[in-house]
Amino acid sequence: DPKLVAAGEKVFAECKACHQVGESAKHRVGPVLNGVVGRQVGQAEGFNYSPAIRKAAEQGMIWDHATLDAYLASPRSVIEKGRMSFQGLRSEDDREAVIAYLRTFN
Ligand code: HEM
Repeated sequence: DPKLVAAGEKVFAECKACHQVGESAKHRVGPVLNGVVGRQVGQAEGFNYSPAIRKAAEQGMIWDHATLDAYLASPRSVIEKGRMSFQGLRSEDDREAVIAYLRTFN
């Protein structure tokens, strides 16, 4: 849905302080998010993740829609002691939209 993706691009403004997406994206405070939807957590090559996220990866955690939605609502509810210092997106519509936007970089 192109409208949802466009809405998600606007929501992503809140993420840009720390994350990049697209062809020339580079790791910043947070990892490049290309390909993250549906992938195992903590897999962006060359990014120094927290021990907490690496442990979740070892346990086989995947960024499926439900997990990503919960993480974006409240990062530390999902990755306790993770390093994403983001207050979270309170609006379910915003989360839905930003996930749709991220999926376009898969
Ligand atoms: C990790 C998304 C905002 C810093 C992640 C991951 C996702 C994500 C999906 C997991 C990446 C992976 O497993 O490869 C988002 C979205 C945001 C947002 C969609 C906006 C709605 C922010 C902001 C910051 C930030 C504002 C900085 C203040 C980080 C860091 C990590 C991370 C440092 C790595 C966490 C760790 O190693 O525990 N983010 N993020 N993010 N994000 Fe964000």
